[in-house]
Amino acid sequence: MTMQNLDTPRAAIVVGASSGMGAAVVRRLVADGMTVAALDLATANWPADQPAAYTGAIDVTDADGVAAAIGGAAAALGGVDVVVNCAGILGPVTPTVETEQSTFERIIALNLGGAFAVTRASLALLLPRGYGRIIHIASIAGKEGNPQMAAYSASKAGVIGLVKSVGKEYAASGVTVNAIAPASIETPLIQGMTPERRDVQRSLIPMGRFGTVDEIAGLVSFIASPDSSFTTGFVFDATGGRADY
Ligand SMILES: NC(=O)c1ccc[n+]([C@@H]2O[C@H](COP(=O)([O-])OP(=O)(O)OC[C@H]3O[C@@H](n4cnc5c(N)ncnc54)[C@H](O)[C@@H]3O)[C@@H](O)[C@H]2O)c1
Repeated sequence: MTMQNLDTPRAAIVVGASSGMGAAVVRRLVADGMTVAALDLATANWPADQPAAYTGAIDVTDADGVAAAIGGAAAALGGVDVVVNCAGILGPVTPTVETEQSTFERIIALNLGGAFAVTRASLALLLPRGYGRIIHIASIAGKEGNPQMAAYSASKAGVIGLVKSVGKEYAASGVTVNAIAPASIETPLIQGMTPERRDVQRSLIPMGRFGTVDEIAGLVSFIASPDSSFTTGFVFDATGGRADY
């Protein structure tokens, strides 16, 4: 059995931390008493009230760079217990016949390839400690498939498959690997949609509203905690009642 005394303060790395859900997750984990490193591609965009103990650059499409960035952040924190990956892009919302192959490949490389790179680099640090939490933000689009969002939906379905596979593979290691599948959340990502598309997305949610970044951060807080110790390879719902499974 791999158990660790977790009375001591814990450390987390948040990837895709300068905006939207990632920024909210940083705030929440700091409020929970964790020491947090914030990593993002957009290093010029840190929120003014950024509470992270460490900030750094990462491009999740560069696997070697991901390992170096996560390793550097962990070294700066004196170790890491939790890695949350919020990096992702929506890409163009266009009919599939008008979507270039290169666009599809770019979105898959970032959303799915990035999730794999973050998972792999995180496991290398967490497995020797015998404790850890890896959390990815997938999407309801990966379960249901949103029209005109083939690449995005496929990338998020891939993230769901990734956490199911890796969660099972390392189930006995003390490291859990899970995802959250949100419906539309009020962030810059959905503000990039047309008003018509936003109306469609909202109408699909039985609660009749978009989610908030703080609701996602609250769920991350639970999954990241030692209390969430018997769940791995799972996709947590955050859809205001939209998801059927
Ligand atoms: N907003 C929604 O409605 C919604 C719904 C379901 C899932 N999601 C997913 O949640 C995650 C967070 O989305 P958000 O709404 O907070 O978006 P956001 O655009 O506010 O934040 C995404 C962050 O990822 C960073 N990023 C982009 N490319 C990167 C790269 N190559 N390397 C490192 N970082 C990179 C961006 O700089 C940004 O800070 C994404 O994976 C998104 O697909 C969002």
